Amino acid sequence: MISEKIEALLREVDRAEAGSEKEVEELRVRLLGKKGEITRLFDEFRTVSAEHKREFGQKLNNLKNKATEKINELKGRIGQSESSDRTTDLTMPGDMHELGTRHPISITREEIISIFRKLGYALAEGPEIEDDYHVFEALNFPPDHPARDMQDTFFITSGHNPVLLRTHTSSVQVRTMERNRPPIRVICPGRVFRNEAISARAHCIFHQVEGLYVDKGVSFADMKQSILLFVREMFGENTRIRMRPSYFPFTEPSTEVDISCNICGGKGCNICKGTGWLEIMGAGMVDPNVLSACGIDPEEYSGFAFGMGIERIAMLKWQVRDLRLYFENDVRFLREFETSI
Ligand code: PHE
Repeated sequence: MISEKIEALLREVDRAEAGSEKEVEELRVRLLGKKGEITRLFDEFRTVSAEHKREFGQKLNNLKNKATEKINELKGRIGQSESSDRTTDLTMPGDMHELGTRHPISITREEIISIFRKLGYALAEGPEIEDDYHVFEALNFPPDHPARDMQDTFFITSGHNPVLLRTHTSSVQVRTMERNRPPIRVICPGRVFRNEAISARAHCIFHQVEGLYVDKGVSFADMKQSILLFVREMFGENTRIRMRPSYFPFTEPSTEVDISCNICGGKGCNICKGTGWLEIMGAGMVDPNVLSACGIDPEEYSGFAFGMGIERIAMLKWQVRDLRLYFENDVRFLREFETSI
């Protein structure tokens, strides 16, 4: 008898629900109050024979514990919903989530990419941790070229074909030509690393975009036209370009590209230091040695490449005077680009 009653009460406890504090209290009184059903079972327990006392004792204690737990749980649940009801004021204004802004480097990178997309360039990416072969050797750097010097390059290992942090995204040019046959038309954005002291004009990490176009009959004139189209999209349609002879091991002939100063329109101001021109990129016709190293026949194909620093382009576009601002992420600086998105 007593055993059945315990079972029945256990089931009841299990199923018990309550919608208010009052209902929980009623349940407590009915089960555990002075005249409650569980309390009464404890009275009845005195009449149980000695040999069954141990078994029923355990069951009864278990029932009491379960009932106490359940009542506490129901109390807790009701307490929570009642207190949250009390604190919800639907007339309060909502909490605004502050929206971040895109970083000027990201904005500039996207703009450069979208201009070259329109000219038919695909996106190519490569590793930041590179080897000497892809950063220097395949790009026709003689073994003793100063750019391989410890001054500029962060080396990770030494010895034959050392692992290093790429110093330019031209390494992606090599990787792309290794894997693809012409026509190749890619734009390669990415981070580059140089062992330089940090100042307003230099940083040890910065971003570049490299472009590469290889096909039959690609000429210097094609390069000039593509660069001109790019700068007019980027800096305005009246922008002019000027090319000065330069040297890169991987291009021949090589050139440094200037644009007419977008601040003074070429008359001369303190941004262009009175010259009317601003340097924006290096470029040139891909050296035949580079094509050969990547398995492309220089007798059949030719190409041009160009590379620019994203920080520099962004600096010229928005007159940012100190490179370090790009890396400090001061929100007052970043907010200035809110409307440029
Ligand atoms: N890789 C060169 C640099 O980092 C830029 C460049 C790219 C020049 C492609 C010519 C052609 O300065």
